[in-house]
Amino acid sequence: MKILVINGPNLNLLGIREPGIYGAGTYEELCQMIREKAAQLGVSVSLYQSNHEGDIVTRIQQALGREDAIVINPAAYTHTSIAILDALKAVRLPAAEVHISDVTQREPFRQLSYAGMACEAHYIGLGFEGYLRAMEYMAEKYKK
Ligand code: DQA
Repeated sequence: MKILVINGPNLNLLGIREPGIYGAGTYEELCQMIREKAAQLGVSVSLYQSNHEGDIVTRIQQALGREDAIVINPAAYTHTSIAILDALKAVRLPAAEVHISDVTQREPFRQLSYAGMACEAHYIGLGFEGYLRAMEYMAEKYKK
Protein backbone atom coordinates (compact mmCIF):
# COMPACT_ATOMS: atom_id res chain seq x y z
CA MET A 1 0.00 0.00 0.00
CA LYS A 2 1.17 3.53 -0.78
CA ILE A 3 0.10 6.61 1.16
CA LEU A 4 0.70 10.16 -0.06
CA VAL A 5 1.09 12.73 2.72
CA ILE A 6 0.63 16.31 1.54
CA ASN A 7 1.43 19.42 3.56
CA GLY A 8 0.44 22.88 2.40
CA PRO A 9 1.90 26.36 2.78
CA ASN A 10 4.10 27.37 5.70
CA LEU A 11 4.22 23.87 7.16
CA ASN A 12 7.84 23.69 6.00
CA LEU A 13 8.43 26.27 8.77
CA LEU A 14 7.12 24.07 11.58
CA GLY A 15 9.25 24.59 14.67
CA ILE A 16 9.86 28.24 13.78
CA ARG A 17 6.30 29.18 12.95
CA GLU A 18 4.03 30.18 15.89
CA PRO A 19 5.32 27.40 18.21
CA GLY A 20 2.61 28.25 20.76
CA ILE A 21 0.05 27.04 18.21
CA TYR A 22 1.92 24.44 16.13
CA GLY A 23 4.51 23.19 18.63
CA ALA A 24 8.30 23.05 18.60
CA GLY A 25 8.71 20.07 16.26
CA THR A 26 10.19 20.80 12.84
CA TYR A 27 8.91 19.69 9.44
CA GLU A 28 11.86 17.30 9.15
CA GLU A 29 10.95 15.76 12.54
CA LEU A 30 7.36 15.37 11.33
CA CYS A 31 8.61 13.63 8.17
CA GLN A 32 10.76 11.31 10.28
CA MET A 33 7.76 10.37 12.49
CA ILE A 34 5.69 9.69 9.35
CA ARG A 35 8.42 7.50 7.82
CA GLU A 36 8.74 5.53 11.06
CA LYS A 37 4.96 5.04 11.24
CA ALA A 38 4.91 3.84 7.62
CA ALA A 39 7.62 1.28 8.40
CA GLN A 40 5.69 0.11 11.47
CA LEU A 41 2.48 -0.23 9.43
CA GLY A 42 4.28 -1.95 6.55
CA VAL A 43 3.17 0.65 3.99
CA SER A 44 5.17 2.93 1.75
CA VAL A 45 4.84 6.68 2.05
CA SER A 46 5.51 9.66 -0.22
CA LEU A 47 5.92 13.04 1.45
CA TYR A 48 5.07 16.23 -0.40
CA GLN A 49 5.09 19.85 0.82
CA SER A 50 4.35 22.91 -1.26
CA ASN A 51 3.54 26.56 -0.72
CA HIS A 52 1.72 26.69 -4.08
CA GLU A 53 -1.91 25.78 -4.59
CA GLY A 54 -1.56 24.63 -8.22
CA ASP A 55 1.39 22.40 -7.36
CA ILE A 56 -0.69 20.71 -4.68
CA VAL A 57 -3.50 20.18 -7.23
CA THR A 58 -0.98 18.65 -9.67
CA ARG A 59 0.45 16.34 -7.01
CA ILE A 60 -3.05 15.13 -6.06
CA GLN A 61 -3.70 14.40 -9.76
CA GLN A 62 -0.41 12.49 -9.98
CA ALA A 63 -1.56 10.21 -7.16
CA LEU A 64 -3.91 8.53 -9.64
CA GLY A 65 -2.45 5.09 -10.30
CA ARG A 66 0.52 5.86 -8.08
CA GLU A 67 -0.79 5.99 -4.48
CA ASP A 68 -3.73 4.32 -2.73
CA ALA A 69 -4.69 6.95 -0.17
CA ILE A 70 -4.06 10.60 0.64
CA VAL A 71 -3.42 12.24 4.01
CA ILE A 72 -3.57 16.00 3.60
CA ASN A 73 -3.04 19.09 5.69
CA PRO A 74 -3.80 21.83 3.15
CA ALA A 75 -2.90 24.49 5.77
CA ALA A 76 -4.39 27.89 4.84
CA TYR A 77 -5.69 26.48 1.53
CA THR A 78 -8.08 24.39 3.63
CA HIS A 79 -10.24 27.45 4.03
CA THR A 80 -10.00 28.86 0.51
CA SER A 81 -9.25 26.23 -2.11
CA ILE A 82 -12.07 24.81 -4.16
CA ALA A 83 -9.35 23.64 -6.60
CA ILE A 84 -7.88 21.29 -3.97
CA LEU A 85 -11.38 20.06 -3.07
CA ASP A 86 -12.11 19.38 -6.74
CA ALA A 87 -8.78 17.56 -7.23
CA LEU A 88 -9.49 15.28 -4.26
CA LYS A 89 -12.95 14.55 -5.63
CA ALA A 90 -11.56 13.98 -9.14
CA VAL A 91 -9.04 11.28 -8.18
CA ARG A 92 -11.54 9.56 -5.85
CA LEU A 93 -8.83 8.17 -3.58
CA PRO A 94 -9.67 7.79 0.10
CA ALA A 95 -8.48 10.96 1.83
CA ALA A 96 -8.03 12.07 5.43
CA GLU A 97 -7.74 15.67 6.60
CA VAL A 98 -5.24 16.65 9.29
CA HIS A 99 -4.81 19.91 11.21
CA ILE A 100 -2.15 20.24 13.87
CA SER A 101 -4.06 22.95 15.73
CA ASP A 102 -7.69 22.78 16.78
CA VAL A 103 -9.11 24.96 14.01
CA THR A 104 -12.59 24.60 15.54
CA GLN A 105 -11.44 26.79 18.45
CA ARG A 106 -9.71 29.44 16.33
CA GLU A 107 -10.78 32.39 14.14
CA PRO A 108 -14.10 32.31 12.26
CA PHE A 109 -12.27 32.21 8.90
CA ARG A 110 -10.79 28.82 9.87
CA GLN A 111 -14.19 27.23 10.48
CA LEU A 112 -14.81 26.28 6.85
CA SER A 113 -12.85 23.40 5.33
CA TYR A 114 -13.29 22.90 1.60
CA ALA A 115 -10.78 20.03 1.38
CA GLY A 116 -12.48 18.38 4.35
CA MET A 117 -15.61 17.96 2.24
CA ALA A 118 -13.75 15.35 0.16
CA CYS A 119 -12.23 13.58 3.19
CA GLU A 120 -13.71 10.61 5.00
CA ALA A 121 -11.67 11.03 8.19
CA HIS A 122 -10.61 14.14 10.10
CA TYR A 123 -7.86 14.53 12.71
CA ILE A 124 -7.99 17.99 14.15
CA GLY A 125 -6.00 19.49 17.01
CA LEU A 126 -3.98 16.38 17.79
CA GLY A 127 -0.60 17.87 16.84
CA PHE A 128 1.72 15.61 14.81
CA GLU A 129 -0.17 12.59 16.17
CA GLY A 130 -3.02 13.42 13.79
CA TYR A 131 -0.89 12.40 10.77
CA LEU A 132 -0.05 9.07 12.39
CA ARG A 133 -3.70 8.39 13.25
CA ALA A 134 -4.70 9.22 9.67
CA MET A 135 -2.08 6.77 8.36
CA GLU A 136 -3.35 4.05 10.72
CA TYR A 137 -6.88 4.68 9.48
CA MET A 138 -5.83 4.31 5.84
CA ALA A 139 -3.70 1.21 6.46
CA GLU A 140 -6.62 -0.42 8.32
CA LYS A 141 -9.07 0.51 5.55
CA TYR A 142 -6.75 -0.93 2.86
CA LYS A 143 -6.64 -4.33 4.64
CA LYS A 144 -10.44 -4.69 4.46
C1 DQA B 1 -3.42 24.30 9.95
C2 DQA B 1 -4.54 25.26 10.33
C3 DQA B 1 -4.77 26.28 9.25
O1 DQA B 1 -5.84 27.15 9.59
C4 DQA B 1 -3.51 27.12 9.07
O2 DQA B 1 -3.69 28.05 8.01
C5 DQA B 1 -2.30 26.29 8.86
C6 DQA B 1 -2.13 25.05 9.62
C7 DQA B 1 -3.09 23.31 11.09
O3 DQA B 1 -2.41 22.34 10.81
O4 DQA B 1 -3.48 23.52 12.24
O5 DQA B 1 -1.40 26.68 8.13
O6 DQA B 1 -3.82 23.54 8.82
